Amino acid sequence: MTIKSESSFPFSQACENNKGPILEHLKALLRGCLSVLEVGSGTGQHALHFAQYLPHLTWRTSDVATNLNALSLGIARASLTNLPEPIILDVDQLPWTCGRFDAIFMANSLHIMSKHSAENFFVEVSNHMTADAQLIVYGPFKYNGEFTTLSNASFDEKLRKRSSVSGLRDFEWINALAQRAGLKLRHDYTMPANNQLLVWGMSSQANTL
Ligand SMILES: C[S@@+](CC[C@H](N)C(=O)[O-])C[C@H]1O[C@@H](n2cnc3c(N)ncnc32)[C@H](O)[C@@H]1O
Repeated sequence: MTIKSESSFPFSQACENNKGPILEHLKALLRGCLSVLEVGSGTGQHALHFAQYLPHLTWRTSDVATNLNALSLGIARASLTNLPEPIILDVDQLPWTCGRFDAIFMANSLHIMSKHSAENFFVEVSNHMTADAQLIVYGPFKYNGEFTTLSNASFDEKLRKRSSVSGLRDFEWINALAQRAGLKLRHDYTMPANNQLLVWGMSSQANTL
């Protein structure tokens, strides 16, 4: 199955580069999973790729209202039965009205949204996870207050120039928010291009870290 892309469609080169390495982890992580909610789906490129190669599950995309038209266009054109139409989901509009999922996925969004929005995300996320669900977050993080690489430091500077609310988040702060939400870290995978793939499960479930 191939998905056509056209130059008039929103396109992220970063998504093209990282969708393969992320999918390799998702294949194992989402083996027994039937439903995924993606928060901040952006162009929808991740969703198209993952839904195509994970046909056993339904991948529900979402984004803020202002991004929905562009996202909907790409999702509709893909015409995949396991990729239903996107929903509006702004993490700041509490409570979310989207039901529960076996996994929640979010990529490259915690450093774009404000710290307050990141807090709201973790206040609400576990209310939308089934009993043994996973939360999977991809992106660059600081550890012990330090950037992992010089390129992440300059990316952070670029983000902050673009928006005063954006910036790379501290892994320890994010993990503390997750713990407060009843989640326990299961995996911290180092990914290409100085990114991490963080996986949490409900605290009551077995963990590997
Ligand atoms: C850099 S884009 C990442 C898009 C895509 N996940 C990717 O990896 O390319 C950041 C995304 O976060 C979304 N976002 C920002 N604030 C948000 C909020 N308050 N609620 C939900 N999504 C938000 C943006 O609309 C955008 O789609």
